[in-house]
Amino acid sequence: MQYLIGMDIGTSSTRAIITDENGKLIASATSDYPLMTPKPGWAEQNPLHWWNASIIVIKEVLEKSGISPKDIAAIGPSGQMHGSVFLDSSGDVLRPALLWCDQRTQKQCDLIYDIFGYEGFIKLSYNKALTGFTAPKILWLRENEPENYKKIYKILLPKDYIRFKLSGICATEVSDASGTILMDIAKRNWSDEILEGLDIEKSHLPDVYESNYVSSKVSAEAAKLTGLIEGTPIVGGAGDQAGGAVGSGIVTPGLISDYLGTSGVVFSYSDSPVYDSQGRLHSFCHAVNGKWHLMGVTLSAAGSLKWYDDSFGPSRQVIEQHPQQKSYKLLDIQAEKIKPGADGLIFLPYLSGERTPYADPNARGVFFGLSYVHGQDHFVRAILEGVAFSQFDCLRLMNETGIKSDKVILFGGGARSSLWKQITADIFDTKIVTLNVEEGPSYGGALLAGVGCGIYSNIVEAAHKVIKEADEVLPNPDNVEKYKKIYEIYKSLYADLKEDFTKLNAAL
Ligand code: XUL
Repeated sequence: MQYLIGMDIGTSSTRAIITDENGKLIASATSDYPLMTPKPGWAEQNPLHWWNASIIVIKEVLEKSGISPKDIAAIGPSGQMHGSVFLDSSGDVLRPALLWCDQRTQKQCDLIYDIFGYEGFIKLSYNKALTGFTAPKILWLRENEPENYKKIYKILLPKDYIRFKLSGICATEVSDASGTILMDIAKRNWSDEILEGLDIEKSHLPDVYESNYVSSKVSAEAAKLTGLIEGTPIVGGAGDQAGGAVGSGIVTPGLISDYLGTSGVVFSYSDSPVYDSQGRLHSFCHAVNGKWHLMGVTLSAAGSLKWYDDSFGPSRQVIEQHPQQKSYKLLDIQAEKIKPGADGLIFLPYLSGERTPYADPNARGVFFGLSYVHGQDHFVRAILEGVAFSQFDCLRLMNETGIKSDKVILFGGGARSSLWKQITADIFDTKIVTLNVEEGPSYGGALLAGVGCGIYSNIVEAAHKVIKEADEVLPNPDNVEKYKKIYEIYKSLYADLKEDFTKLNAAL
C-alpha cells in the first residue's frame, strides 16, 4: 500500500495528514502559531513559524501512523492564500509576511486602478484589486520599505515557502497564483501586461504549474529535519480554498460549497474562466487541470466566533451546567437556547473589514438592535446568524452569475456545529450536505499528490472514488420566512453605516 501526505499551512496552525490509496485518513497532526497585528488592520506572520510547525507535524504524522517514510508516494501542500513571503538571495525571509486578512494596502489598490483604470484592470485580471491580495502588498513594500524591496530575490505564497524549505525549489501552481492578481486567468500563467504596468519583475516570481504537477522533491537537508525520504515528490498543491474544494469533491459543474473556517467561502466550480465587468466574486483558476472557479469571501466567519470565545468565552452558567464540554460546544449550547432571529439582535461580521459583497477595508463588526432582553446567549446566536447572512450575500452573487444548485456542501470547523448547519440551511433556503471527509484543504492536497504520483488517473476520478455525502439538513419553512425579513434589515445596515465606517477610520 502507498500513502500520501496532505498539508495545510493555515492562519492559526499547520496541519498534516496521511491518507492511504483509498483515501482513508490514517493519522493527523496540528501545530499552532501566533498571528501578529502590529497595528489595527495589519496582520502578519513569521514564515519560519510555518516551517517549524511543518517539521513538527510531518514528524508527528509519520510517527503516529507507524508508516515507513519510504511508503509516502507524494506530498501535496495547501495553504492560506495571498500572503507575501519576501526572500533574499540567500533564501532568508526579509520581513514578516503580510497576510490575506491584512488591510493596509488600499492606497496601493487605488494606484493599480490609476494605472489600468477600474474596468481596465478587471478586464486584465478578471478580479478587483483588493487589499487582501498579493500584488498591492508588493507595491506596499516598494513604497514603505524600499531597502527590503531592493533585496528581493523571490516572492512566494505561504505554502510555496514550505515547498521551498522542503525542496530548495521556488515554484507555485495556478490556484494560489491566481490570488496574487498578477495572473492572466484565462491563460493560467503570469500576465506580462499586469507585471509591466506595475513594474514588477517576472524573475521575482516562481514558475507556475498545474496543481497536480510534481514541481519539486524533498531535499537531503529537509529529509534530515523531517524524517521524509530524500526525493519524495511534492506536487504543486493548491491555495486552501481550491484545495478544500478538491477535498470536498467540488470538481465538476453544478456544485457549490460553503467553507466555514476562519474565513467563510462560498465556492463554485466552472468549466471556463468567468468574467464579470464588476469583478464581484473572485474569479480564479481551479486546482483541477484546465478548470476555473468562483468564490465569495467573508473575512471573519468562524473567526468571528473565535474572537467572541477569546474575548468573552462561554457563559458561567453553561460552563457550570456542562463541565465536560469544550468551548465551541458550549457556545453552541448557548445559541441553541435562543429563537431564530436572536430577539432582534443582528451581527455584521466585518471584524477585519470585508471582501464580498463589499470590498471595504474600513467596515467594522456591529451588534445592532440591543435591548434589555439580550444576554450572552443572544450574542452567540447573532454571530452564527450574521456569518450565515454574509455567506448568503456571496451565494446570491453566485446565483446571479447563473450558477445555481439544489444543495450546498458545507465543510470546515463550523460544519461540526449542527446548529450552524441548520441556521445556514434556513438562511440559504437550501439543502445543506456534509461529507464523509471533513479535512478540506489538507485532504485536497493529499488527493492532488495522489494524482501527481499516478495513484489516481485524475482529480475527478480521485474525488469520486473517496468522497461521499454523509448527512443532509433541510431548511425549516418557518425559520426561512423569519430569516428572509431579518436579512432585508441586515442588508440595509451596511448601506446605512458605510460612511460612518469610513469616518471612524479617518478619525483614528
Ligand atoms: C481566500 C482567503 C482566505 C485565506 C485564508 O481568498 O483569503 O480564505 O486563504 O484561509
